[in-house]
Amino acid sequence: MPLASSIPADLAPVMRVLDEAVGGVERVFDGALRSDLPPVQRLVEHVETYRGKMLRPQLVILSAMAAPPSDLAPGSSCLTDAHLTIAAVCEMIHMATLVHDDVLDEADVRRKGATVNRLHGNEAAVILGDYLFSSAYRLCSTLAGEVGRQASLLIGQTGMTLCAGELLQLHHRQNLSLDERTYFRIVEQKTASLIAVACKLGAMQSGANAHTAERFHRFGLALGVAFQIQDDLLDLTGDQGVVGKPLHRDVELGKLTLPLIHHLSTAPPDVRGRTLLLLRANAHDGGLRALNAPAFASLLSALESTGSIAHARQTADDLVAQAKEALAPIRPSPVKSVLLWVADQVVARAF
Ligand code: FPP
Ligand code: MG
Repeated sequence: MPLASSIPADLAPVMRVLDEAVGGVERVFDGALRSDLPPVQRLVEHVETYRGKMLRPQLVILSAMAAPPSDLAPGSSCLTDAHLTIAAVCEMIHMATLVHDDVLDEADVRRKGATVNRLHGNEAAVILGDYLFSSAYRLCSTLAGEVGRQASLLIGQTGMTLCAGELLQLHHRQNLSLDERTYFRIVEQKTASLIAVACKLGAMQSGANAHTAERFHRFGLALGVAFQIQDDLLDLTGDQGVVGKPLHRDVELGKLTLPLIHHLSTAPPDVRGRTLLLLRANAHDGGLRALNAPAFASLLSALESTGSIAHARQTADDLVAQAKEALAPIRPSPVKSVLLWVADQVVARAF
């Protein structure tokens, strides 16, 4: 994440290797999408401006460098072109989901710039998302050997999981009785599944055995859920100029997230009743209805009154601790320290 200034000085050499590898991933990404049709290339270049934290590529690379079996020293020497390809595949799938997600959320700003749907309309955004998704599969199919075969299978499965999570979320829109269990299921599927597979594939490509690869998967899954909880918190409490995308969309679209679910299940009856009135006043069939500033302020103070924002923060912190625990048996190294530091940034971030 671009918070490198806060990283302990002794880890700077690993950060330099990581930065260089991420540069390589960007080149693979851009090369794989290039089109000689100017209208297609223009859209591709627009998506390249979305480049943000590059969390998934970073996790592929760091997992790859931390995971080699004990007869190989952990470090940069194990990085190959195949790792960069896996990292580019994961980022491309992620970009495809964002381009489609902005259509679903009617979002006009992403990473502080105009979304594809705002600039070029929903049709272009849907087809561009399909182009990215297809390109990711094509790129993945270029990976050789048994790990390449497994990568294609895992990436295909993860694409289905992402869509299933998004469909489950759609099904529960405006469901004011949504429970935590269903919320976690949605989040695990729509967000954490890809982060988990990024970590697992990075480790697998470095020769990790199935047991170790599974540890990296568990690390990514817990971290991915923490990531989405932080995203949901930023939607409620973030600063739009820093976050770089529209805020309060979850409530406006009737998507219940952890703070609201916790609030509705713990608030005293009168407080709960007032929150339900506010949400029902805003509920409608599909589309988007903006919450006015006083209504949002009263919702936020209701969430704070039941400790629901703090509960979500604590849950995200606990998940990061759980993620780190999954890697406890991985032998200590500067690379592992950077991986654990990145895990902390997932919940410390303001964007
Ligand atoms: C962001 O959630 C959305 C996702 C993590 C997943 C979106 C998945 C799809 C649209 C499935 C179909 C697409 C493909 C190509 C597999 P959010 O809206 O909470 O986050 P945001 O605040 O960044 O918009
Ligand atoms: Mg969205």
